[in-house]
Amino acid sequence: MAEKSGTPAATAAQDGQQSQQQQFLSSFISEIIRSPVNLILVGVIAILIYKIVKSRTRPEVPLPEVKKLPKLRRDFTIEELTKYDGKGSDGRILVAVNGSVYDVTRGAKFYGPGGPYEAFGGRDASRALARFAVDAATDKYDDLSDLNTTEMNSIKEWEEQFKERYDYVGKLLKPGETPTNYSDEEDEGSQQETEAKSENSETDAAAKSKSD
Ligand code: HEM
Repeated sequence: MAEKSGTPAATAAQDGQQSQQQQFLSSFISEIIRSPVNLILVGVIAILIYKIVKSRTRPEVPLPEVKKLPKLRRDFTIEELTKYDGKGSDGRILVAVNGSVYDVTRGAKFYGPGGPYEAFGGRDASRALARFAVDAATDKYDDLSDLNTTEMNSIKEWEEQFKERYDYVGKLLKPGETPTNYSDEEDEGSQQETEAKSENSETDAAAKSKSD
């Protein structure tokens, strides 16, 4: 017949179980204390648990604020571009790709001092991107005329990425080329720039056909 709980026999069994558990615990603890290796392991585990708990309960650390710089709208010579390598007082970084200049300041972790693509900051990155060699970025004017079609297509693909991520600033001027006066134009990026360019050429063509 099964013993009912509450009977003296059941209470004795419970007591027995408890003392067994206590015995196990005390032998477990004395085992740990006796061996320095075990003590070290327990210490390491405790530190890891503390770190995990701390990292989960730590309040959100605010991200460092990225300074918002006024938008730039102008053309650059390759020499003027070199000043914008992220080391200036405002930290602005410009990169030229395929004849267009982009403000990549928000990508400072890539193009700023110490970043993997630091060499692109304040330079023309076209050739480096085409050749997939960071050190081929240049601060001399590069007309890219010796690059083959595959390399030029690669540059265009890279430029698409820059267009999507960063603000278009203006043209990279060829030596002797006059900068465009953008003072009357609204700054709305390269898309507008392209549209404006094609509109201008359409108007020019219409004007030309009228005068013919
Ligand atoms: C072992 C070689 C390389 C590895 C593992 C690598 C890895 C990466 C990764 C993971 C990103 C994306 C970062 C992100 O969006 O968070 C990136 C972006 C980029 N990589 Fe590389 N890369 C390598 C070589 C190169 C080379 C040789 C070039 C150019 C010559 C290059 C140019 C770029 C550029 C322009 C970006 C875009 C950065 C941006 O978002 O503005 N990479 N790379």
